[in-house]
Amino acid sequence: MSTYNELIHSYRKQFKEKGLPPETVKAFLFELCNDYEVNLYLDIDKQVDKRIEDKFMKGIERLLNNEPMNYVLGYSYFYGYRFIVNKDVLIPRPETEELVGLILSQYDEYYKGRKIKVCDVGTGSGAIAIALKKEEDNLEVYASDISSEALTVAKQNALNNNCEITFLEGSMLEPYIDNDIKVDILVSNPPYIKTVETIESSVYDFEPHVALFGGSDGLKFYREILENAHKIIAPDGLIFFEMGYDLKEQLTDLAKQYLPESEVKVFKDINNKDRMLMIKL
Ligand SMILES: C[S@@+](CC[C@H](N)C(=O)[O-])C[C@H]1O[C@@H](n2cnc3c(N)ncnc32)[C@H](O)[C@@H]1O
Repeated sequence: MSTYNELIHSYRKQFKEKGLPPETVKAFLFELCNDYEVNLYLDIDKQVDKRIEDKFMKGIERLLNNEPMNYVLGYSYFYGYRFIVNKDVLIPRPETEELVGLILSQYDEYYKGRKIKVCDVGTGSGAIAIALKKEEDNLEVYASDISSEALTVAKQNALNNNCEITFLEGSMLEPYIDNDIKVDILVSNPPYIKTVETIESSVYDFEPHVALFGGSDGLKFYREILENAHKIIAPDGLIFFEMGYDLKEQLTDLAKQYLPESEVKVFKDINNKDRMLMIKL
């Protein structure tokens, strides 16, 4: 039996040797302790709780194998809400929390508390849809994905967060068109990594490829959405996209090509990168 401190130090060394960030060890143990209401900082020199040690030993090997910590834990936090995540869904990113913040502020400006319909295309874990509904109950929220496995996770997340969302399965806008659903706001964080781009192995090896790649120019799914948007969005509606930081010019041109009367605005993320695009029809 060892103390929490000893456990951290023995594994920090292994992480360093493998070129992985040693801080991960403490962060992982901290999360496990929280689940058992143990305060790691107060108990740092106490013997490790057996239940925590068992979980730690199982998980640490996966972390040493470069698997993202949220998959090992089985959950992630997004906009203050807890979401189940597994190999079938992308781990929601902090940039996407900024997208949710932008949508909520623009909703206040354009719709001023009115009841409106919103859809989240490519919902994955349901992060965007669920956070929007939790923050603004006047939104009637639809969420769709091509992956039935992802939808299973998203539905469970909606249930766990006590949140009413209508889920649809299908490719891009097809399920909305087929069911004659019209919305005021369309939001999507579609797969946008270029197929030729090299990405971190922890992402490539563990996150679902259907959630990552957006064709040779990264624009495949934006094109599909923009081409069909007029079929499901109200004439004065809004579209919000998360985008690759290097897609600003191309995506603006694409929006103007398909929706020539619209106003297009790009917003930067906290790291000063072009990250969100808003289209006012
Ligand atoms: C970048 S992930 C975004 C997930 C989630 N919205 C988020 O922001 O964390 C893209 C999502 O699009 C889904 N997807 C990929 N191709 C699709 C398609 N043709 N139609 C609908 N969804 C698709 C993937 O399954 C994945 O869940």
